Amino acid sequence: MCGIVGYVGLKNASEILVEGLKRLEYRGYDSSGICVAVDGALTVAKTPGRVMNLEDSIEGNPMFAAGTIGIAHTRWATHGRPTQENAHPHTSTNEKIALVHNGIIENYSTLKKFLHDKGYEFRSETDTEVLVHLISEFYGKDGCELLETAVQLALKEVTGTYGLAVISADEPDKIVVARRGSPLIVGVGSDEYIVASDASAILEHTANVVYLNDNEMGVISRSGMRTMTTDNIPINKEVQQIEWSLEQIAKGGYEHFMLKEIMEQPESIRNAITGRLDMREMQIVLGGLSDIAPQLARLRRLIITSCGTAWHAALVGEFLFEELAKLPTEVEYASEFRYRNPIIEEGTAVAVISQSGETADTLAAIREAKLKGALTLGVVNAVGSTIARETDAGVYLHAGPEIGVASTKAFTSQITVEIMMALMIARRRYMSQATMENYMRELVLIPDKIEKILEQSEHIKDIAAKYIDRENWLFLGRGYQYPIALEGALKLKEISYIHAEGLPAAEMKHGPIALINDGMPAVFIAPRCETYDKIIGNIEEIRARCGKTIVVATEGDTEIEQFADHVIYVPDAPVPLQPLLTVIPLQLLAYHAAVARGCNVDKPRNLAKSVTVE
Ligand code: G6P
Repeated sequence: MCGIVGYVGLKNASEILVEGLKRLEYRGYDSSGICVAVDGALTVAKTPGRVMNLEDSIEGNPMFAAGTIGIAHTRWATHGRPTQENAHPHTSTNEKIALVHNGIIENYSTLKKFLHDKGYEFRSETDTEVLVHLISEFYGKDGCELLETAVQLALKEVTGTYGLAVISADEPDKIVVARRGSPLIVGVGSDEYIVASDASAILEHTANVVYLNDNEMGVISRSGMRTMTTDNIPINKEVQQIEWSLEQIAKGGYEHFMLKEIMEQPESIRNAITGRLDMREMQIVLGGLSDIAPQLARLRRLIITSCGTAWHAALVGEFLFEELAKLPTEVEYASEFRYRNPIIEEGTAVAVISQSGETADTLAAIREAKLKGALTLGVVNAVGSTIARETDAGVYLHAGPEIGVASTKAFTSQITVEIMMALMIARRRYMSQATMENYMRELVLIPDKIEKILEQSEHIKDIAAKYIDRENWLFLGRGYQYPIALEGALKLKEISYIHAEGLPAAEMKHGPIALINDGMPAVFIAPRCETYDKIIGNIEEIRARCGKTIVVATEGDTEIEQFADHVIYVPDAPVPLQPLLTVIPLQLLAYHAAVARGCNVDKPRNLAKSVTVE
């Protein structure tokens, strides 16, 4: 959940490290810290709060101006409050070793007691600090003159997850990095290396990278990198190319990343379907699934598991796979799935959906599914991420980097990929060519339809402005629109801190209707579909209790205006594709409400983009 950067080369390390931290802030921003090695001594600075505080604190410091090797960290607190003491890097008692860590040391209290009994003084409340003392316990003893050997011995004692980078004043030309369960990438430049938890901190310097796998480590100096397992077996790693450009990562002229990402959805969906919807041959080509297509056609059951917004995409998937492919589908929170000893029979596939490809619970769920012999599928955005690598087969979203903590474009790309997967399987089961072609033609039209919805941003902003003082909102939808109601409520909660509840519309009368009072906003997602008349009944129920109704409806449905206080129109589409359209106004509603309330839209309090801890 935290972000790590390391640099060794010929340039000013602290500038590169601070820039890298800024790009990683979306992984956590409770505190940050930096350490450089100069003339056989380490210099450390740490500050609570955002990276800009750290930048200010090291300005003009000659040590930071001189260092060409260093490590840095931006933290999302797990063990210990977000204070200066708890910020990384953590250093050994003699200030000779410094370490940054991402992940959790599960047996830290046992290790802490062991080290405490040996006389080590602890200066923080973190689990990480045990690691640096453990390394120094081994370092320098007989047969353990090298930092990497001490790191290996320390890691043998550790239960838990880590992505880490360590430097030593006694070997000031090297960084030792290791990974288990938390991502770590090494950028390979000329005469320089940049280590980071993800590519956005590296791209400015090089597109050539080495992805470390679990239980692998690297010893990096200006002259080269050696890679090995944490058991010290040498390994050769391939240098790969990152596809994302820096411009893709920058804000592109929008006030917030989130708005940019909302506005990018026509393009991100086009990217998801490009090369996959073959409109000449009228077939769906999902390269990552082609080898297992016959196996998919014979599936008896599909389980989709994920977290957060990706879980809502999974719920939409349940409708898609059951309706289009007639494939019995269940959806489960990854955090529940991993612990409840799920039943996996012959013919079951487990699909996971994840923007980052690093979510700890989702990763654990896939490992559980594999253990039980399921075919595992990944619907992932981050190329080369752990989930992408550990699943048997899968489909990338190609949505580009998503920086705003609240997920938007990844969500619509996840649904787009699910639609293509469902159609591909459906065609091999019960769906006629003509029906599939019809869906394909409709899917191609979706990006232009989204553009029309995005043009209504100002109208949606005006609606949001009227209700930003209301602390409780309801989001209601039926069928395919039920997960969209959940997603609309989650977006509002995440970024505006307004309490919102999403429900299947008919459930409202079984309890939540008691909440309705004068002026309470209820957002209905009511495009033209089979249950349209029923949802009109639900709207009336709210109106009768003096609630205010904001309705997302199908273009041309003027009838709805007599029931609604506000209407936001979306173009028509076949029912299974409608979620791609109806979610857009809800993203904009949440965005404008959050901005009007003065919230930090891209970095909402207490949230992190990539949750790599349980
Ligand atoms: C975090 C993010 C959410 C995201 C969820 C799952 O909670 O704040 O936006 O939906 O993790 O992340 P994933 O990367 O697996 O899609």
